[in-house]
Amino acid sequence: MASFSILLAFVFASVSTYATPSIGSAQRAGTPSSTGIHDGFFYSWWTDNASQATYVNGDKGNFEMIWTSGGSLSGGKGWSVGAGSRVIAYRGQFEYNGNAHVAVYGWTKNPLVEYYIVENFGTYNPINGTTAQGSITVDGAVYDVGKDVHIPLPTIPGDQTFERFFSVRQNKRSSGRVDVGAHFRAWADAGMKVGTDHDYQIMVCESYLSMGACNITVSAA
Ligand SMILES: *[C@@H]1O[C@H](CO)[C@@H](O)[C@H](O)[C@H]1NC(C)=O
Ligand SMILES: *[C@@H]1O[C@H](CO)[C@@H](O)[C@H](O)[C@H]1NC(C)=O
Ligand SMILES: *[C@@H]1O[C@H](CO)[C@@H](O)[C@H](O)[C@H]1NC(C)=O
Repeated sequence: MASFSILLAFVFASVSTYATPSIGSAQRAGTPSSTGIHDGFFYSWWTDNASQATYVNGDKGNFEMIWTSGGSLSGGKGWSVGAGSRVIAYRGQFEYNGNAHVAVYGWTKNPLVEYYIVENFGTYNPINGTTAQGSITVDGAVYDVGKDVHIPLPTIPGDQTFERFFSVRQNKRSSGRVDVGAHFRAWADAGMKVGTDHDYQIMVCESYLSMGACNITVSAA
């Protein structure tokens, strides 16, 4: 059985020969984007096809991703309906060479809000693109809080304005428990209220123009 570091060395060394496992039909650009339910967990995988990127659903809450530089991608597993009461446990490995992060990620409607609780990040701290709202302490760890507004792109039909909320853990980690409600409450205290209707809520690995891999297993704590 290939170890994570061997797999990573392999992708860094010889991407073009990497045999692509697939949740759909294999393509040269990697695993095609898709969402669905796998082994009791919701998953979401999106790639802009600009890099060789592979996403594989493992048992229960496990997923593995490996990617080369050149594009944007986002993949992860969790729940099709988010909850403010959920405590999310996760463990795994995250390797990167550039701009990438691991986060609790989700959406609400009414109003439309996109949110991140970032547990680990690469060369770019996602708080940097936001309007800072101070910091909070959750489970003994300090997170920087910020928000920004998505500006609709004229090139995307139906694209709309919405707020994006961020907590970013100062002390990065790749395993732990995240009390989602503690973040939602702290955000609300700063005037950042998530919507009343929860869309999906997953543990995500995302990359922008980086090279890397992650192997994460998520569960309800
Ligand atoms: C990824 O994690 C799972 C669960 O811990 C493990 O079974 C698997 O071997 C790991 N994959 C690699 C490539 O290390
Ligand atoms: C990626 O390629 C697939 C298959 O050709 C296509 O359906 C999908 O729209 C592409 N995604 C983007 C973001 O261009
Ligand atoms: C923002 O980015 C700069 C330059 O990379 C870095 O020095 C700074 O620490 C970052 N700010 C935060 C809040 O992480």
